[in-house]
Amino acid sequence: MKVFITRSLPGNVEKTLRENGHSVVTFKKDRPITKKEFINYARNADAVISLLTDKIDSEIIDNLKKCKIIANYAAGYNNIDINYAKQKNIIVTNTPDILTNATADIALTLALTCSRRVIDGHDFVKKKKFKGWAPKLLLGLDICGKTIGIIGAGRIGQAVAKRFKAFDTKIIYYNRSRKSDFEKKIGAKKVTLKKLMSVSDIITIQIPSTNETYHLLDKEHLSFLKPNAILINIARGEVVDEKYLIQLLKKNKIHSAGFDVYENEPNIDPELLKLPNVVVLPHLGSATIETRTKMALLCAENVLRVLKGKSAKTPV
Ligand code: DGY
Repeated sequence: MKVFITRSLPGNVEKTLRENGHSVVTFKKDRPITKKEFINYARNADAVISLLTDKIDSEIIDNLKKCKIIANYAAGYNNIDINYAKQKNIIVTNTPDILTNATADIALTLALTCSRRVIDGHDFVKKKKFKGWAPKLLLGLDICGKTIGIIGAGRIGQAVAKRFKAFDTKIIYYNRSRKSDFEKKIGAKKVTLKKLMSVSDIITIQIPSTNETYHLLDKEHLSFLKPNAILINIARGEVVDEKYLIQLLKKNKIHSAGFDVYENEPNIDPELLKLPNVVVLPHLGSATIETRTKMALLCAENVLRVLKGKSAKTPV
Protein backbone atom coordinates (compact mmCIF):
# COMPACT_ATOMS: atom_id res chain seq x y z
CA MET A 1 0.00 0.00 0.00
CA LYS A 2 1.02 3.63 -0.39
CA VAL A 3 2.41 5.66 2.48
CA PHE A 4 3.02 9.39 2.17
CA ILE A 5 5.40 11.17 4.58
CA THR A 6 5.15 14.97 4.59
CA ARG A 7 8.85 15.59 5.34
CA SER A 8 12.05 13.62 5.62
CA LEU A 9 12.32 12.07 9.12
CA PRO A 10 15.28 10.78 11.15
CA GLY A 11 15.85 7.04 11.35
CA ASN A 12 14.95 4.24 8.98
CA VAL A 13 11.25 4.85 8.72
CA GLU A 14 11.08 4.57 4.92
CA LYS A 15 13.13 1.35 4.98
CA THR A 16 10.91 -0.17 7.67
CA LEU A 17 7.78 0.57 5.68
CA ARG A 18 9.28 -0.73 2.42
CA GLU A 19 10.50 -3.94 4.10
CA ASN A 20 6.88 -4.51 5.02
CA GLY A 21 5.85 -4.33 1.37
CA HIS A 22 4.60 -0.74 1.18
CA SER A 23 5.58 1.92 -1.30
CA VAL A 24 6.71 5.17 0.29
CA VAL A 25 6.78 8.72 -1.02
CA THR A 26 8.38 11.44 1.10
CA PHE A 27 8.06 15.18 0.45
CA LYS A 28 11.77 15.93 0.24
CA LYS A 29 11.90 19.74 0.30
CA ASP A 30 13.32 21.29 3.46
CA ARG A 31 10.21 23.29 4.30
CA PRO A 32 6.66 22.50 5.40
CA ILE A 33 4.47 21.20 2.60
CA THR A 34 1.74 23.53 1.28
CA LYS A 35 -1.91 22.58 1.34
CA LYS A 36 -1.99 22.16 -2.45
CA GLU A 37 1.11 19.95 -2.43
CA PHE A 38 -0.28 17.91 0.47
CA ILE A 39 -3.49 17.19 -1.41
CA ASN A 40 -1.63 16.28 -4.60
CA TYR A 41 0.75 13.90 -2.85
CA ALA A 42 -1.70 12.35 -0.38
CA ARG A 43 -4.78 11.93 -2.59
CA ASN A 44 -4.11 8.23 -3.25
CA ALA A 45 -2.19 7.37 -0.10
CA ASP A 46 -3.43 4.60 2.20
CA ALA A 47 -1.56 6.18 5.12
CA VAL A 48 -0.05 9.58 5.86
CA ILE A 49 2.71 10.44 8.33
CA SER A 50 2.22 14.13 9.12
CA LEU A 51 3.94 16.84 11.15
CA LEU A 52 2.66 19.43 13.61
CA THR A 53 3.31 22.03 10.90
CA ASP A 54 0.74 20.37 8.59
CA LYS A 55 -2.69 21.87 9.16
CA ILE A 56 -4.95 18.97 8.26
CA ASP A 57 -8.42 20.52 7.96
CA SER A 58 -11.68 19.18 6.51
CA GLU A 59 -10.68 20.25 2.97
CA ILE A 60 -7.52 18.12 3.10
CA ILE A 61 -9.36 15.24 4.75
CA ASP A 62 -12.03 15.31 2.01
CA ASN A 63 -9.23 14.76 -0.51
CA LEU A 64 -7.76 11.75 1.32
CA LYS A 65 -9.82 9.28 -0.64
CA LYS A 66 -8.11 6.07 0.50
CA CYS A 67 -6.42 7.08 3.74
CA LYS A 68 -6.92 4.81 6.75
CA ILE A 69 -4.49 6.47 9.15
CA ILE A 70 -2.87 9.84 9.77
CA ALA A 71 0.12 9.18 12.04
CA ASN A 72 1.09 12.56 13.49
CA TYR A 73 4.79 12.93 14.31
CA ALA A 74 4.14 14.77 17.62
CA ALA A 75 2.44 14.33 20.95
CA GLY A 76 0.17 17.30 20.20
CA TYR A 77 -2.44 16.91 17.45
CA ASN A 78 -4.10 20.34 17.43
CA ASN A 79 -3.00 20.59 13.78
CA ILE A 80 -5.58 17.96 12.78
CA ASP A 81 -9.37 18.23 12.69
CA ILE A 82 -9.68 14.93 14.54
CA ASN A 83 -13.48 14.99 14.75
CA TYR A 84 -13.72 15.29 10.98
CA ALA A 85 -11.09 12.57 10.49
CA LYS A 86 -13.14 10.31 12.78
CA GLN A 87 -16.30 11.00 10.75
CA LYS A 88 -14.37 9.88 7.66
CA ASN A 89 -13.16 6.73 9.46
CA ILE A 90 -9.54 7.84 9.45
CA ILE A 91 -7.57 6.82 12.53
CA VAL A 92 -5.32 9.52 13.96
CA THR A 93 -2.31 8.58 16.08
CA ASN A 94 0.30 10.63 17.95
CA THR A 95 3.65 9.92 19.64
CA PRO A 96 3.10 10.20 23.39
CA ASP A 97 5.44 8.93 26.16
CA ILE A 98 8.62 8.61 24.12
CA LEU A 99 9.10 12.38 23.96
CA THR A 100 8.22 13.05 27.60
CA ASN A 101 11.79 13.20 28.91
CA ALA A 102 13.25 15.24 26.06
CA THR A 103 10.41 17.75 26.23
CA ALA A 104 10.62 18.03 30.03
CA ASP A 105 14.37 18.64 29.67
CA ILE A 106 13.66 21.63 27.43
CA ALA A 107 11.46 23.19 30.15
CA LEU A 108 14.35 22.85 32.59
CA THR A 109 16.82 24.17 30.02
CA LEU A 110 14.71 27.28 29.48
CA ALA A 111 14.12 27.80 33.20
CA LEU A 112 17.82 27.56 34.05
CA THR A 113 18.80 29.69 31.06
CA CYS A 114 16.38 32.43 32.16
CA SER A 115 17.14 32.28 35.89
CA ARG A 116 20.94 32.16 35.53
CA ARG A 117 21.11 34.55 32.56
CA VAL A 118 23.00 32.03 30.47
CA ILE A 119 22.45 33.86 27.16
CA ASP A 120 23.54 37.20 28.65
CA GLY A 121 26.67 35.55 30.04
CA HIS A 122 27.44 33.77 26.78
CA ASP A 123 27.06 36.99 24.75
CA PHE A 124 29.13 38.91 27.32
CA VAL A 125 32.07 36.53 26.95
CA LYS A 126 31.77 36.28 23.16
CA LYS A 127 31.75 40.07 22.85
CA LYS A 128 35.03 40.08 24.83
CA LYS A 129 33.48 42.09 27.69
CA PHE A 130 34.65 39.69 30.41
CA LYS A 131 37.37 41.48 32.39
CA GLY A 132 37.35 39.16 35.40
CA TRP A 133 35.10 37.95 38.20
CA ALA A 134 32.92 40.65 39.71
CA PRO A 135 30.52 40.51 42.69
CA LYS A 136 27.57 41.97 40.83
CA LEU A 137 28.19 40.57 37.38
CA LEU A 138 25.02 39.20 35.71
CA LEU A 139 23.25 38.14 38.87
CA GLY A 140 20.46 35.66 38.33
CA LEU A 141 17.91 34.03 40.59
CA ASP A 142 18.11 30.90 42.74
CA ILE A 143 15.92 27.93 41.93
CA CYS A 144 16.42 26.05 45.20
CA GLY A 145 13.65 26.76 47.68
CA LYS A 146 11.36 28.34 45.10
CA THR A 147 7.76 27.50 44.21
CA ILE A 148 7.26 25.88 40.83
CA GLY A 149 3.83 26.11 39.19
CA ILE A 150 3.07 23.29 36.78
CA ILE A 151 0.21 24.08 34.39
CA GLY A 152 -1.00 20.76 32.99
CA ALA A 153 0.09 17.77 35.07
CA GLY A 154 0.00 15.13 32.35
CA ARG A 155 3.04 13.02 31.53
CA ILE A 156 5.23 15.95 30.49
CA GLY A 157 4.11 18.22 33.34
CA GLN A 158 4.86 15.49 35.87
CA ALA A 159 8.29 14.86 34.32
CA VAL A 160 9.06 18.59 34.56
CA ALA A 161 8.00 18.58 38.23
CA LYS A 162 10.17 15.53 38.96
CA ARG A 163 13.20 17.36 37.58
CA PHE A 164 12.46 20.53 39.58
CA LYS A 165 11.99 18.46 42.74
CA ALA A 166 15.69 17.59 42.55
CA PHE A 167 16.36 21.32 43.03
CA ASP A 168 14.59 21.26 46.43
CA THR A 169 11.61 23.24 45.26
CA LYS A 170 7.96 23.27 46.28
CA ILE A 171 5.66 22.00 43.51
CA ILE A 172 2.10 23.22 42.95
CA TYR A 173 -0.02 22.34 39.94
CA TYR A 174 -3.11 23.30 38.00
CA ASN A 175 -4.93 20.52 36.18
CA ARG A 176 -8.55 19.67 35.42
CA SER A 177 -8.41 16.45 37.43
CA ARG A 178 -6.61 15.66 40.66
CA LYS A 179 -3.42 13.59 40.21
CA SER A 180 -3.20 11.65 43.47
CA ASP A 181 -0.16 9.55 42.49
CA PHE A 182 1.70 12.66 41.43
CA GLU A 183 0.80 14.34 44.72
CA LYS A 184 2.09 11.35 46.69
CA LYS A 185 5.31 10.88 44.70
CA ILE A 186 6.35 14.52 44.34
CA GLY A 187 4.49 16.14 47.22
CA ALA A 188 2.73 18.34 44.66
CA LYS A 189 -0.33 20.34 45.68
CA LYS A 190 -3.31 21.10 43.38
CA VAL A 191 -4.29 24.78 43.35
CA THR A 192 -6.46 27.12 41.28
CA LEU A 193 -4.90 28.78 38.25
CA LYS A 194 -5.19 32.17 39.96
CA LYS A 195 -3.32 30.89 43.02
CA LEU A 196 -0.65 29.22 40.88
CA MET A 197 -0.04 32.41 38.93
CA SER A 198 0.08 34.52 42.09
CA VAL A 199 2.51 32.47 44.18
CA SER A 200 4.82 30.66 41.72
CA ASP A 201 8.38 31.76 41.07
CA ILE A 202 8.69 29.63 37.95
CA ILE A 203 5.67 28.59 35.90
CA THR A 204 5.89 25.95 33.19
CA ILE A 205 3.08 25.27 30.71
CA GLN A 206 2.42 21.78 29.36
CA ILE A 207 -1.27 21.76 28.45
CA PRO A 208 -2.54 20.81 24.99
CA SER A 209 -3.97 23.48 22.71
CA THR A 210 -7.75 23.08 22.45
CA ASN A 211 -10.71 25.47 22.19
CA GLU A 212 -10.92 25.39 25.99
CA THR A 213 -7.24 26.22 26.59
CA TYR A 214 -7.02 29.07 24.04
CA HIS A 215 -5.54 32.05 25.99
CA LEU A 216 -5.94 30.17 29.25
CA LEU A 217 -3.26 32.57 30.44
CA ASP A 218 -5.16 35.71 29.53
CA LYS A 219 -4.51 39.30 30.66
CA GLU A 220 -6.17 38.68 34.00
CA HIS A 221 -4.12 35.58 34.85
CA LEU A 222 -0.85 37.01 33.52
CA SER A 223 -1.39 40.09 35.68
CA PHE A 224 -1.18 37.90 38.80
CA LEU A 225 2.48 37.01 38.09
CA LYS A 226 5.03 38.07 40.72
CA PRO A 227 7.66 40.68 39.75
CA ASN A 228 10.42 38.05 39.74
CA ALA A 229 8.38 35.32 38.06
CA ILE A 230 9.78 33.29 35.17
CA LEU A 231 7.26 31.91 32.66
CA ILE A 232 8.17 28.95 30.45
CA ASN A 233 5.98 27.72 27.57
CA ILE A 234 6.82 24.36 26.01
CA ALA A 235 3.20 23.53 25.06
CA ARG A 236 1.62 25.58 22.30
CA GLY A 237 1.73 29.36 21.78
CA GLU A 238 -2.06 29.73 21.63
CA VAL A 239 -2.52 28.97 25.34
CA VAL A 240 -0.95 32.32 26.31
CA ASP A 241 -2.02 35.86 25.36
CA GLU A 242 1.40 36.51 23.84
CA LYS A 243 0.77 40.21 23.07
CA TYR A 244 -0.02 40.89 26.71
CA LEU A 245 2.93 38.83 27.93
CA ILE A 246 5.20 40.93 25.68
CA GLN A 247 3.82 44.08 27.36
CA LEU A 248 4.63 42.66 30.80
CA LEU A 249 8.16 41.74 29.73
CA LYS A 250 8.67 45.13 28.09
CA LYS A 251 7.72 46.92 31.30
CA ASN A 252 9.85 44.48 33.37
CA LYS A 253 6.75 43.43 35.30
CA ILE A 254 8.15 39.88 35.46
CA HIS A 255 11.73 38.59 35.50
CA SER A 256 11.82 36.75 32.18
CA ALA A 257 10.17 34.19 29.92
CA GLY A 258 11.38 31.17 28.00
CA PHE A 259 9.61 30.26 24.77
CA ASP A 260 9.81 27.04 22.80
CA VAL A 261 6.49 27.75 21.07
CA TYR A 262 4.75 30.88 19.75
CA GLU A 263 1.24 32.08 19.14
CA ASN A 264 1.77 32.59 15.43
CA GLU A 265 4.50 30.00 14.85
CA PRO A 266 6.83 30.28 12.95
CA ASN A 267 6.11 34.00 12.47
CA ILE A 268 7.33 35.25 15.81
CA ASP A 269 6.15 38.70 16.92
CA PRO A 270 9.10 41.07 16.17
CA GLU A 271 8.45 42.85 19.49
CA LEU A 272 9.19 39.62 21.32
CA LEU A 273 12.51 39.19 19.57
CA LYS A 274 13.65 42.68 20.63
CA LEU A 275 13.27 41.92 24.35
CA PRO A 276 16.41 41.31 26.45
CA ASN A 277 14.54 39.26 29.08
CA VAL A 278 13.43 36.36 26.90
CA VAL A 279 15.02 33.11 25.78
CA VAL A 280 13.67 31.86 22.46
CA LEU A 281 14.03 28.39 20.96
CA PRO A 282 12.73 27.10 17.60
CA HIS A 283 10.26 24.50 18.97
CA LEU A 284 12.93 22.03 20.09
CA GLY A 285 10.89 20.15 22.74
CA SER A 286 11.40 16.66 21.34
CA ALA A 287 14.49 17.51 19.27
CA THR A 288 17.03 14.87 20.24
CA ILE A 289 18.35 12.25 17.83
CA GLU A 290 17.10 9.42 20.04
CA THR A 291 13.63 10.83 20.63
CA ARG A 292 12.94 11.97 17.08
CA THR A 293 14.10 8.57 15.79
CA LYS A 294 11.78 6.75 18.22
CA MET A 295 8.92 9.05 17.19
CA ALA A 296 9.45 8.17 13.51
CA LEU A 297 9.48 4.46 14.27
CA LEU A 298 6.31 4.77 16.35
CA CYS A 299 4.59 6.48 13.42
CA ALA A 300 5.73 3.61 11.17
CA GLU A 301 4.51 1.04 13.69
CA ASN A 302 1.08 2.69 13.86
CA VAL A 303 0.89 2.76 10.06
CA LEU A 304 1.95 -0.89 9.74
CA ARG A 305 -0.59 -2.05 12.32
CA VAL A 306 -3.51 -0.13 10.81
CA LEU A 307 -2.67 -1.19 7.24
CA LYS A 308 -2.68 -4.81 8.47
CA GLY A 309 -6.16 -4.25 9.89
CA LYS A 310 -4.95 -4.18 13.51
CA SER A 311 -5.68 -1.47 16.07
CA ALA A 312 -3.23 1.43 16.27
CA LYS A 313 -0.70 1.43 19.13
CA THR A 314 -1.21 5.08 20.11
CA PRO A 315 -4.54 6.38 18.78
CA VAL A 316 -5.55 9.84 19.98
C1 DGY B 1 4.87 17.78 20.34
O1 DGY B 1 5.17 16.63 20.03
O2 DGY B 1 3.69 18.15 20.41
C2 DGY B 1 5.97 18.72 20.71
O3 DGY B 1 5.54 20.03 20.65
C3 DGY B 1 7.18 18.48 19.85
O4 DGY B 1 8.27 19.18 20.29
